[in-house]
Amino acid sequence: MAAVRRKLIVVANRGPASYERAANGERVARRGGGGLVTALRGLVEPHDVTWIASAISDEDRVVSGENEGRAFDETSREGASFRLRLVAHDPQAYDWFYNVVSNPILWFVQHYLWDLKESPNLDDAFHHSWEEGYGAVNRNFADAVLDELEREPEATVFFHDYHLYLAPRLVREGRPDAALQHFVHIPWPQADYWHVLPLVARRQVHEGILANDAIGFHTPRWRRSFLRCCEDFLGADCDFAVGTVEHEGRTVRVTANPISLDVKEFEELKESEAVLEAERALQPSRPEQLILRVDRTDPSKNVVRGFRAFELLLDEHPELQWRVGMLALLDPSRQDIPEYAEYVGAIQREARRVNDRYARIGWTPIDLRVEDDFAASVAAYKQYDVLLVNAIFDGLNLVAKEAPLVNTRDGVLVLSENAGAHDELGDFAVTVNPFDVAGQANALHEALRMSASERRRRIEGIRARVREHDLAAWLAQELEALPGLSTSRR
Ligand code: G6P
Repeated sequence: MAAVRRKLIVVANRGPASYERAANGERVARRGGGGLVTALRGLVEPHDVTWIASAISDEDRVVSGENEGRAFDETSREGASFRLRLVAHDPQAYDWFYNVVSNPILWFVQHYLWDLKESPNLDDAFHHSWEEGYGAVNRNFADAVLDELEREPEATVFFHDYHLYLAPRLVREGRPDAALQHFVHIPWPQADYWHVLPLVARRQVHEGILANDAIGFHTPRWRRSFLRCCEDFLGADCDFAVGTVEHEGRTVRVTANPISLDVKEFEELKESEAVLEAERALQPSRPEQLILRVDRTDPSKNVVRGFRAFELLLDEHPELQWRVGMLALLDPSRQDIPEYAEYVGAIQREARRVNDRYARIGWTPIDLRVEDDFAASVAAYKQYDVLLVNAIFDGLNLVAKEAPLVNTRDGVLVLSENAGAHDELGDFAVTVNPFDVAGQANALHEALRMSASERRRRIEGIRARVREHDLAAWLAQELEALPGLSTSRR
């Protein structure tokens, strides 16, 4: 697709790279983690991008200081040049922003992760962190955007995710004519669940994000929830068919456009030396049929129930013992947050329990690896017979798109009905309810026994969809979403 080059100010908590010092003292840039960064790195080449991100590592802070907090020229690993601006927040404010508000509160609200009779307890820590952490970091981001708009008033500002709900309003106040757009990479829960947050916070979230001209979600399901919340919380006039919210005299366009991946990048990656080497390392421990999961160690990913479903499968089908194994490649995530650290413990305990029950010399049912190893993940993508994606709720889930693209065994996707990707790929997956452990065991069995022709039909269906709606198509559709901002304005 011939993309028109656009001026974009991308604003996301994480940058495309984070700086570190290697053992020899040299400064190195490490690829930023998570699905958002993987997807957005693709923006940098076809467009004229200034990326504003938090300075997260110590070395990021040094780099930010060397540039007096301003943007500097950087080159992506693929050789594309862009400008990067690292915002060095007060460390205490950033801790409150990331470890008290964004992840244990907003992430938990948006993935329905609480057991409400126990938690959350929104004490004073939440209230001051909302103001002095989340609010302060959003103000810093807004100031950085306003400064960049001085230089490039015509640029489109493209905010990302739940870290930045307050910044758009602050930018709008400073620059009423700015072109602002936001993409929410995670689910939007129903209005009742938002009632867990105090009134002031849920109003600020909705008023903040409505300062954009356009807001994108992965699926119509999350978009519908959002529109409903705008009606309920702000009395806004919403058109559910067209996808608009009338608020404070402005019309905000709300779209559903699932993010995708760079097909060429994955096709090259699967032949890269690092992946081939990781594939060779996987071979000796490969069972006859391999069930795979690849996730961050996030409570929303539902790893523990996945192990229970596998255990039930072994109970009900003893003939599968020795022949089938589960490989869980889990990237440790957000470990400064107690709920996340405890979840890693729960994952390890459950894997240990199932293994202690079933393992025999020469066969371990669950091969659990908690490490950040992207090459090993891509190698395992090539090797699975069944891919389990059983998220409790998930905005999209890129693994469900990446893995089938490079798989070599016509593997079957077992997919949660609450993952955004189900909207596109459900016809080609075995659908599971993430809470129904018995149902997941049956689904795994169905997938393991599926005929070769049916497996081929399904994986080809997934690939066709991913190729047709790839990252470039997602982006083109996003950039068309701004009313009155056709490409000719550039
Ligand atoms: C999800 C979120 C992203 C986030 C990523 C990694 O994909 O939607 O916004 O960047 O997780 O999370 P982290 O907290 O490590 O940045």
